[in-house]
Amino acid sequence: MRLLKFIPVVFCLMLILQSKAQNIITMLDSGRNTSLRGLSVVNDKVVWASGSNGTIARSIDGGKTFEWLTVKGFEQRDFRDVEAFDANTALIMAVDEPAIILKTKDGGKHWNKVFVDSTKGMFLDAMDFNNKGDGIVIGDPINNKAFIAFTKDEGEHWIVNNNILKDTLITGEAFFASSGTNIKLLSITNQTPHFLAVSGGKKSQVISKNFIQIPISQGEESTGANSIAINSDQNCVIVGGDFTHDSISNNNCVLFNYKGNDIKFSKPQISPHGYRSCVAFITRNKLICCGTSGVDISDNGGINWQLISNESFHVCQKAKNGNAVFLAGGNGGIAKLQE
Ligand SMILES: *[C@@H]1O[C@H](CO)[C@@H](O)[C@H](O)[C@H]1NC(C)=O
Ligand SMILES: *[C@@H]1O[C@H](CO)[C@@H](O)[C@H](O)[C@H]1NC(C)=O
Ligand SMILES: *[C@@H]1O[C@H](CO)[C@@H](O)[C@H](O)[C@H]1NC(C)=O
Repeated sequence: MRLLKFIPVVFCLMLILQSKAQNIITMLDSGRNTSLRGLSVVNDKVVWASGSNGTIARSIDGGKTFEWLTVKGFEQRDFRDVEAFDANTALIMAVDEPAIILKTKDGGKHWNKVFVDSTKGMFLDAMDFNNKGDGIVIGDPINNKAFIAFTKDEGEHWIVNNNILKDTLITGEAFFASSGTNIKLLSITNQTPHFLAVSGGKKSQVISKNFIQIPISQGEESTGANSIAINSDQNCVIVGGDFTHDSISNNNCVLFNYKGNDIKFSKPQISPHGYRSCVAFITRNKLICCGTSGVDISDNGGINWQLISNESFHVCQKAKNGNAVFLAGGNGGIAKLQE
């Protein structure tokens, strides 16, 4: 009898605790001399982050502890993207010249060059991989032509193909290297990668078979789409805005369903609360996005966004095989979303 009386009380307490514990961001590490923009969450235990000053962070215990390392000989480079395949194997991509991608197979102790291009004007922006080890990297346009290379073997070998895109970008249009998430690989068939990328600057477009202008902030060097996320229903969410006016909460997000041809964009009812550099699906309908002015969550596929933190983060990613969601940003800040 006694127990019975307590059950409703316990139940209510559980409900309260559960609702209290929702969508809280917990800092795990910070106070480092690096700005982190690359993040790759392999599973609920293994997380890699990459950033400026040649810095890499790795956790194999779900973020309880991070191992920090500086890639020898690359202390001045800014690793804007990382793709990790397991606790030992990862690729890192440095922006600026010369373009470089390094790979480790021993948890970051040694790194080998798997891609180098010293062409003047090279500036890699982001990589994306599927779970078969197929990957793509995109770089800023040279002579208005986007740079595209792909790999079929987890980045061991890269094939440059700058003729995939028939169209050219306009002068002043390029890709943001703000979170390593402005490109999504759809497939590679007959040595041809199919992908969706988003550009920004003077003009902001979805870059695919066709180029389609995005109804998002554009026209200035600091404006445009920064990140694209896609789920298994081919529902896509693009975020961006103006990083020099990061509290502006309109023209910073669009939604569409990708059917392979024409794109019909729609806008959220409540937009993310400021410029956002990264967006990621957490479940089929739940999303997270982040930027220098905070973090938002949507529970309905991006139609309504709720600000859950005013903290600045550059990148947010969900585990490829798991549920954990991590964020990373300035001063070596790494955090976890408590759902
Ligand atoms: C950050 O790193 C740079 C280059 O390695 C160095 O010059 C600078 O003094 C460092 N700053 C701090 C606060 O440690
Ligand atoms: C080190 O990183 C900070 C950003 O966190 C940056 O301001 C500084 O320029 C970097 N130094 C070098 C040498 O890359
Ligand atoms: C963010 O900051 C605003 C203004 O200071 C405040 O009203 C709001 O409660 C904060 N939101 C969160 C989620 O911390």
